[in-house]
Amino acid sequence: MNKVVLVTGANSGIGLALCERLLSSQDAGGLHLCLACRNTRRAQAARAALLGVRPSAQITLLHIDTSSISSVLGAARELRLRFTRLDYVYLNAGIMPNPQFDFKAFFKGLFSSNIITMFSTGEGILTQKGGVTPDGLQEVFATNHFGHFLLIRELEPLLCQAGRTSQLIWTSSSNARRSAFSLEDVQHRRGREPYSSSKYASDLLSLALNTHYNKQIRVFTNTFTLTAYNGAEALFWIFLQKPERLDPRAKYQSLTSVLGHNYTQPQRMDVDLDTSEALYDELLQLEREIGRKQISS
Ligand SMILES: NC(=O)c1ccc[n+]([C@@H]2O[C@H](COP(=O)([O-])OP(=O)(O)OC[C@H]3O[C@@H](n4cnc5c(N)ncnc54)[C@H](OP(=O)(O)O)[C@@H]3O)[C@@H](O)[C@H]2O)c1
Repeated sequence: MNKVVLVTGANSGIGLALCERLLSSQDAGGLHLCLACRNTRRAQAARAALLGVRPSAQITLLHIDTSSISSVLGAARELRLRFTRLDYVYLNAGIMPNPQFDFKAFFKGLFSSNIITMFSTGEGILTQKGGVTPDGLQEVFATNHFGHFLLIRELEPLLCQAGRTSQLIWTSSSNARRSAFSLEDVQHRRGREPYSSSKYASDLLSLALNTHYNKQIRVFTNTFTLTAYNGAEALFWIFLQKPERLDPRAKYQSLTSVLGHNYTQPQRMDVDLDTSEALYDELLQLEREIGRKQISS
């Protein structure tokens, strides 16, 4: 039976490059690729391009807007109707609002011990303003993190079926920083680094997810790269690994050498179980609040 691979945000960038790499790989024979996208026209174009890579490929489309609760719930319902199990779920869709350069923080950073981190990750000097979704959630948090959390919860009946492992793989970022995240403000309503906060939240959540769903392996990737093909390196590499050999506390980074060779490198995540469990509880609480709102409306 074909392996079922779901990829959110599959119509461009890293998501599309991953799909191309999966279809080009000989090891990926017998795949059913489900492209989960918010824009039907772009999703159809991506499907056509992928069929150009492998005309016999089984590729289906699913509409999802990860920033919208009703869309996520509808997409999950549809997936439960279409499939009996999912083997890989790539939680990849994401947004980063246009960053603004903070000159004051830059000059301060030049004379601090943080200078290397500042230049390598943009910490403190690139700030963003996030919007609010019609559901009343912070947009970056909802799109990158909470929509995917809700999706995982709703897809539980399809995960780890018939004695098989399901892998949930988030596209993280080297920009995921603990300093941008606060348990008191998980949506990042008050901060100026919603992207970094949302990506750290996904890294952090991995520990609690592994504790609560101990039959499922969850791994995390990737870091900044110059092309989408390079950026998909770790996502593709993980696909080829035996899940039990992957370290759930590591983030697998896509890297490119000076000679242009792509490779994957694990990096220990800056996360702890207590904070992870506290975030998990916060998300469950938010999920309950949403459920109550839906019943009363
Ligand atoms: N590029 C990098 O260097 C880099 C580095 C680290 C991590 N990342 C992460 O990699 C992932 C992919 O980014 P990318 O660089 O490939 O950028 P991209 O080309 O802009 O791709 C983002 C994808 O996410 C989709 N998306 C955005 N908002 C969505 C929503 N509300 N619902 C459903 N889909 C949505 C986009 O769909 P539309 O076409 O409809 O907008 C698009 O398919 C993101 O999670 C990003 O944070 C990127």
